[in-house]
Amino acid sequence: MKCLNDYRMTIGDHELVPIMIGGMGVDISSTDLALVASRLDGVGTISDAMSQTVTDRRYKTRFVKDKVKLYKHTVGKTDKSEVQFDLAHIASAQAIHVTKTMDRKQGNGLIYINVMEKLGMNNPKATLQVRMESAMDAGIDGITLSAGLHLGSMALVKDHPRFNDVHFGIIVSSLRALQLFLRKNKSLNRLPNFIIVEGPLAGGHLGFGIDDWQDYDLLTITREVCAWLEEQQLSIPVIAAGGIFTGTDAVNAVEAGAAGVQVATRFTIAKECGLPDDVKQEYLKSDEDNIEVNTISPTGYPMRMLKNSPAICKGIQPNCESFGYLLDSKGRCSYIDAYNAEVAKHPDAKKIEVCEKTCLCTAMRKFECWTCGSTTYRLKDTTVKNPDGSYLLPDAEHIFKDYQFSVGNKISLPDSVS
Ligand SMILES: Cc1cc2nc3c(=O)[nH]c(=O)nc-3n(C[C@H](O)[C@H](O)[C@H](O)COP(=O)(O)O)c2cc1C
Repeated sequence: MKCLNDYRMTIGDHELVPIMIGGMGVDISSTDLALVASRLDGVGTISDAMSQTVTDRRYKTRFVKDKVKLYKHTVGKTDKSEVQFDLAHIASAQAIHVTKTMDRKQGNGLIYINVMEKLGMNNPKATLQVRMESAMDAGIDGITLSAGLHLGSMALVKDHPRFNDVHFGIIVSSLRALQLFLRKNKSLNRLPNFIIVEGPLAGGHLGFGIDDWQDYDLLTITREVCAWLEEQQLSIPVIAAGGIFTGTDAVNAVEAGAAGVQVATRFTIAKECGLPDDVKQEYLKSDEDNIEVNTISPTGYPMRMLKNSPAICKGIQPNCESFGYLLDSKGRCSYIDAYNAEVAKHPDAKKIEVCEKTCLCTAMRKFECWTCGSTTYRLKDTTVKNPDGSYLLPDAEHIFKDYQFSVGNKISLPDSVS
């Protein structure tokens, strides 16, 4: 019987254990988590989502306070078009986040940064450019372009001195999205270094419709993408992601043509994962019917989460002065519209509920939007219960090696490995 360790994944000049730990914002795929993957010769991913608040929390900077000070006058107002990010601050938060990660890197693996296009930050093009340039300056090994089609993203950094050294990858959920991406980037004369095919069982936002995600299947899309690349004589490693829960699932993906897998859900309960421990216990306690795909994300993408996430129907005042990462090019966010509609309906209410959308920046910052993968309810089978009834949190190395070496769909429990 084969295990994942029987294969190697080559990206650029690097021969890797074929496991990527996927980016999970906001700081769920923490530096500590990513470092484990690179130490074990795989790929770890940090996320650049809300990097200013992340560095404030981790490294005692004051980016959020400084921004709030500037925009006090728009608090409580509906028009947030004025609330802009300072590009120098974005660059410096990103530089701190990436440098503090890369300085601690060990092993022969790689560290990528997940860059979501949907974070428009009230100035989509300029902010995206600064986010990527600054990560490249700070020595990141690669950029995973996600949450968007990214038709113009690579062009924004084409003159950067590391443009040809840094690995670029795109996350797609269909062959069509990949074809469009490649067509639009043709003039750069630089192919992506990897392609992540993310199926409908993944965590976080989904690249499918709310009504049709059930109709798709990861291995079918993976085979389709691999066949097309071969037909075009394009040699780009394809990484399969979404619902890969065991080493055997991973081997099946590789047998379907993938060079490796991107996994995330199994690591959400790792000691090194950025979620607070009590939230990890919520993931561990969850049942299958407690997981839903809904439309409350202001990004417009369907999102999978636990139904008991505190963020659902919360109804807080929009907090764009502190965050504002989802403001589009016109300074709008669909949460603001949903909030205002509720306020108009209940003008005298002290507290309102907004169920149509959630204030995702605030919810993610406070770890109150428990976004998760479709297999979250199986996490309890990957660990043991403590005498007090809580679950033991495994370390990331244990989970990584379980993917790497297990066979026959088996999962080794943390106390059975030294
Ligand atoms: C809690 C959580 C948060 C996630 N956040 C992001 C994100 O910010 N950006 C992104 O591109 N993918 C995100 N993902 C998707 C993962 O990177 C990964 O591709 C996917 O979840 C793999 O499927 P699996 O979780 O079933 O292993 C997230 C996944 C989870 C579980």
